[in-house]
Amino acid sequence: MSNDSNQKQDITGALVNEHRLILRMIALLEHNATRTAAKTYSNWHFYLDGVDFIRNYADRFHHAKEEDVLFEALIKNGMPRDHSPVAAMLMEHEQGRAFVKSMETAALEELSGQAGREMTIADNALAYAALLREHIAKEDEILYPLAERVIPDTMRDGIIAGYAAAEARTAADLTARYEEAVAGYEQENE
Ligand SMILES: [Fe+2]
Ligand SMILES: [Fe+2]
Repeated sequence: MSNDSNQKQDITGALVNEHRLILRMIALLEHNATRTAAKTYSNWHFYLDGVDFIRNYADRFHHAKEEDVLFEALIKNGMPRDHSPVAAMLMEHEQGRAFVKSMETAALEELSGQAGREMTIADNALAYAALLREHIAKEDEILYPLAERVIPDTMRDGIIAGYAAAEARTAADLTARYEEAVAGYEQENE
């Protein structure tokens, strides 16, 4: 291959990296929820930490970059706002939030002494995990490569600046903090 004169500034690599940390949390949810369903895991704080991770890292940090920056750039380059891959991705972000809310409510009920919420916690954790696994695969394999093909060079600095602005709205140590939290729970399972 020759030196590619069309080499463009990457606009999806950072998002793919963020998916990797989200997938590590998804693997923890799958592992622990399966045990909660079998009544062999009852650390309800894990689920609340999972909710915190999903809300602050997956949603506020990662989905904000998609929703406010990358998806808007796709729409500016010809993708319809409705009945389109972007519309489907936005709907899945919303569906995820509903599963997370139900998981949180049930975990809080267990913590306040209400027994018998295991299956609600496990079902919602597993439903969220399945939804997000599929969702991330579609973004990594279809939507991000499409974005790299159709978004012109002239828009790319603006997109990178948009990501930086989205990050500036979150705590500076956010990624390190959540990497540490995920690693801590992974160690429990070793
Ligand atoms: Fe997404
Ligand atoms: Fe994503």
